[in-house]
Amino acid sequence: MKNILVTGSAGQIGSELTMELRRRYGNENVVAGINRTQPSEKLRDSGPCETVDCIDIEAVHKTVKKYNIDTVFHLAAILSAVAEAKPNLAWNVNINGLYNLLEVAREHECAVFVPSSIGAFGPTTPLDDTPQDTIQRPTSMYGVTKVAGELLCDYYFQRFGVDTRGVRYPGIISNETLPGGGTTDYAVEIYYEAIKKKKYTCNLGAGTFLDMMYMPDAIKAAIQIMEVDAGKLQHRNAFNVTAMSFDPEAVAAEIRKHIPEFTIDYAVDPVKQAIADSWPNNMDDSAARQEWGWAPEYTLPEMTKDMIKVLSKKLVVDDNTTTK
Ligand code: SER
Repeated sequence: MKNILVTGSAGQIGSELTMELRRRYGNENVVAGINRTQPSEKLRDSGPCETVDCIDIEAVHKTVKKYNIDTVFHLAAILSAVAEAKPNLAWNVNINGLYNLLEVAREHECAVFVPSSIGAFGPTTPLDDTPQDTIQRPTSMYGVTKVAGELLCDYYFQRFGVDTRGVRYPGIISNETLPGGGTTDYAVEIYYEAIKKKKYTCNLGAGTFLDMMYMPDAIKAAIQIMEVDAGKLQHRNAFNVTAMSFDPEAVAAEIRKHIPEFTIDYAVDPVKQAIADSWPNNMDDSAARQEWGWAPEYTLPEMTKDMIKVLSKKLVVDDNTTTK
């Protein structure tokens, strides 16, 4: 990894992953690929920034050539709730965009990280201790694109030798950039609302268990899997990775340890609930642990402590900025 392109660089994961890659590999060597979402000043000013719409293969080609890119973190994607509302857009970005990216990677011999998701599973998958290799018949458009994406990435590796690698991310909790329309977004919003209003109305029901992960671990997973010696990998696209599994009641109880007056109530969104019910309660990530040493750092209590600390400062600063 010398010259890196991150697509979807201004998104929830991209914004933090790009900064970490710049810290490790040098600011000038990591290109922030942006499209619809505006980058933060920090992202824009700390290294090269290019508009890269993955639907436009020429734009991808041009940027890869211009910066002599050898590794792409392809994060540009449509999340699950938006994909249900706009299936055509989801197919176009998640499949046609990925196809373009893989074609350019084949031509320029780039390694490619492509995130898959818990969304690649469905109601007929064993939902407890979901194995690495199991039934994948998702019922959401997002899931359809994620399974097809996993297969396409493995195909490009087997057929053309493109070094594709990926993980099945669970819900990602972060405090810099908000997620953009996923089923697991509640697990981020609950922290913001706990600090701002001390109450939260959740759009998934109590008892909805899903895998989750704090952003530092999500970034670690992406970088670690791309840095590991290829000879160690039996699987490629994509590895189950998880750090914790909780339902809204459990995260609310953890928040209450810091904000005792916090309350939660429920207004279930049927579309999101149906998606969440079809996803694993908790995945078995032993293949990632064995093949490339995956080991998350943050549990629910540690993440909650950090989220509340970071957001308490950030939201006070935001308040002061908006009232000036
Ligand atoms: N966080 C994603 C979503 O909810 C899951 O991959 O869409």
